[in-house]
Amino acid sequence: MRRVAVLISGSGSNMVSLVAAMQADKAADPVLVLSNRPDAGGLAKAAAFGVPTAVVDHTAFADRAAFEGAVHAELVAAKADLVCLAGFMRILGEDFTRLWEGRMLNIHPSLLPKYKGLNTHARAIAAGDEQAGCSVHEVTAELDDGPVLGQARLAIRPDDTPDTLAARILPLEHRLYPAVLRRVVAGDRSPVVIQG
Ligand code: GRF
Repeated sequence: MRRVAVLISGSGSNMVSLVAAMQADKAADPVLVLSNRPDAGGLAKAAAFGVPTAVVDHTAFADRAAFEGAVHAELVAAKADLVCLAGFMRILGEDFTRLWEGRMLNIHPSLLPKYKGLNTHARAIAAGDEQAGCSVHEVTAELDDGPVLGQARLAIRPDDTPDTLAARILPLEHRLYPAVLRRVVAGDRSPVVIQG
């Protein structure tokens, strides 16, 4: 597994850290960066790295199956054998996740299984948790639910807001995701743990 496609919807900061890591240590090849949004800032960043890009605009499709069929076709055309979701904000249906079962990863900004879904940092603060962080997991049909392949954690500060916490966790994401990708392409699925 070394032909990696990265799916984004926005700024693509996690994509940048993945592509930079792959180009640095040659452990894998970034063969495609695909966005569901034509205006995603990450597309220009990918092009600057020399990585082929594609846009499959979800608003241009009648339903989710048609959209996911078009995404799958782009992945097959790029001969991707591993997919990294990185700030990709579409929920993927069962048929698509089954096609890529075991070959699709996602980064989620919480210490899974806690706080699946959105507003993760606000929920951790509201719950009075000591720690927060991010997780890389295998994508399955159940949202944010697959086997966890890595986690990075740090202490929540008393004065943290969701924004300040997100800002301190994002650099951990940029360390965690490349570390997990390196292990996965080496055939090792043992979890990566980073204490921030
Ligand atoms: C990150 O917090 C990531 O955990 C979540 O989307 C946010 C933005 O990611 N999935 P990126 O900057 O677009 O990579």
